[in-house]
Amino acid sequence: MYRIGKEEIEEVTKVIESKSMFKINDALRETEACEASMRALFGVKRALLVTSGYGALASALVGMGIGPGDEVIVPAYTYIATAMAVVAAGAIPVIADINETYTIDPAEIEKKLSPRTRAVIPVHIQGFPCDMDAISAIAEKHGLMILEDACQADGGSYRGRRLGTIGRAGALSFNQFKVISAGEGGALLTNDDTIYERALIYHDASAIAFFGDQLRDVTEPQFCGTEFRTNEIAAAVLRRQLEKLDGILEDLRKNKALLGARLAAKYEIGPSNDIAGDCGTTLPVVFGSEAEARAFSRAAGIDNYLPIDTGKHIYNHWTAILEKRGAFHPLMDPFRFPANAPYVPDYKAETYPRTLDLLSRTVFLLVNPDWTAAQIDDLARNML
Ligand SMILES: Cc1ncc(COP(=O)(O)O)c(C=O)c1O
Repeated sequence: MYRIGKEEIEEVTKVIESKSMFKINDALRETEACEASMRALFGVKRALLVTSGYGALASALVGMGIGPGDEVIVPAYTYIATAMAVVAAGAIPVIADINETYTIDPAEIEKKLSPRTRAVIPVHIQGFPCDMDAISAIAEKHGLMILEDACQADGGSYRGRRLGTIGRAGALSFNQFKVISAGEGGALLTNDDTIYERALIYHDASAIAFFGDQLRDVTEPQFCGTEFRTNEIAAAVLRRQLEKLDGILEDLRKNKALLGARLAAKYEIGPSNDIAGDCGTTLPVVFGSEAEARAFSRAAGIDNYLPIDTGKHIYNHWTAILEKRGAFHPLMDPFRFPANAPYVPDYKAETYPRTLDLLSRTVFLLVNPDWTAAQIDDLARNML
């Protein structure tokens, strides 16, 4: 989260004064307004505000009809929630290596295909756009659905199309650490009415039938789901955050480009699948060894980290997945479902050396949209 202040405070005050914080109401209808803003900004037919990025991913997978007997390919470098959402739908996550862009390697997707593969989740990690042309071509060739995990890439784009709107569905997150935030929150984006309707029912299965006329145009049958329902305070904050999004991205991109251009004189900067659409939050600096990366990290004088140190984002730290505990009750555990029996990977035995190697000799410099050109000059000089 980069820019939040009086605009959001004013909206929250209005919601509290209205005394209507439930999303279905006759007062400010902030959730409706926020979803409409989202549809317009992202150019999609459907936007569903939920309580988290995980909720958006899980609702999208249920909406796509993913379930037991299906495999879904996810990258080895992503937050564990991506893989857990697949398990929430009853399916099996299959892990694939990343390439030098830190995003899923399209060639590795093809290597992981089986007759049960139904979908792939490209993750635009750190706001780096995935190679969506190559991934879309593979998906088309093999009849796979694409769910974009754009949880770390709110508002970014690939070749002019917003991330999260290229596949069958996309997920955004608005937790504290994202480009825009409401503390927590997420959104599902899609142009597919069926995915939307099922996700709508799943994300709020109990209240959906009883409040307002939410099921008015819905043709999908009601089924039991979960509760990822948002609220008016989060929606009001997000509506104002959405207005700031493109300005934040513009400044992040500008500052990343300035810093990157200076550092490129001495260092290797990681490549991008589309630098114009990259969110600009992170400048990857690549070294020949982990020791060199650590030395640079210590001396950089700017917020940074080695991605290898962010355990939860790397497959070998996903304990619940590696140990195949897909639910507390064994009979509810997709890893034990008869329909999934033919292929449950031995995750612990599988290794992704390219992912580990690249992440261990990379330093991510964290870009600030509010740096001035003079500040960037000083910061760069310190690193050269
Ligand atoms: C790549 C990725 N996917 C999914 C999520 C889940 O988002 P949330 O924390 O909003 O559930 C995150 C959150 O950090 C993420 O980084």
